[in-house]
Amino acid sequence: MAANITFSMIKPDAVTDKHNGAILKMIEEAGFKIKALKMTKLTDERAGQFYEVHKERPFYNDLKAVMCKNHIVAMVLEKENAVADFRKLIGATNPANADAGTIRKLFARSLESNAIHGSDSDENALIEASFFFAQTEIF
Ligand code: GTP
Ligand code: MG
Repeated sequence: MAANITFSMIKPDAVTDKHNGAILKMIEEAGFKIKALKMTKLTDERAGQFYEVHKERPFYNDLKAVMCKNHIVAMVLEKENAVADFRKLIGATNPANADAGTIRKLFARSLESNAIHGSDSDENALIEASFFFAQTEIF
């Protein structure tokens, strides 16, 4: 089960830019099943916890600020090989390097504001999903 789940967030600037519908359409058309979904808002503290792995990086404060600018859309997605396939669908972290047709190439504003998050491992997918949803909401 774990290997088939990933966690994603549409980031605040992409929400502001009204890309929710287009992004969700791409996700569903790529074969992902939406298992849980909500629009919510991160506080500085919660954004810091979510990106705790980056807390020593020079961009940590900017990252937290960008993640708190507006609401986010948090979701749990199911598909075979979900983590890797979703990272492929969203494209490289820096949209300048993202392949044509990827979500970040189409909808990101910049490296700091790159439209969408995707988990980087099966283990983190479950941790991140649990950060936003109860088990009963996912499975
Ligand atoms: P996420 O799916 O958001 O976790 O992105 P990622 O896994 O592709 O990248 P990573 O986890 O390494 O970085 C987290 C976020 O920090 C990225 O999505 C970027 O928005 C931001 N970020 C990463 N590297 C840089 C950088 O060098 N400078 C700045 N300003 N932001 C960065
Ligand atoms: Mg990451």
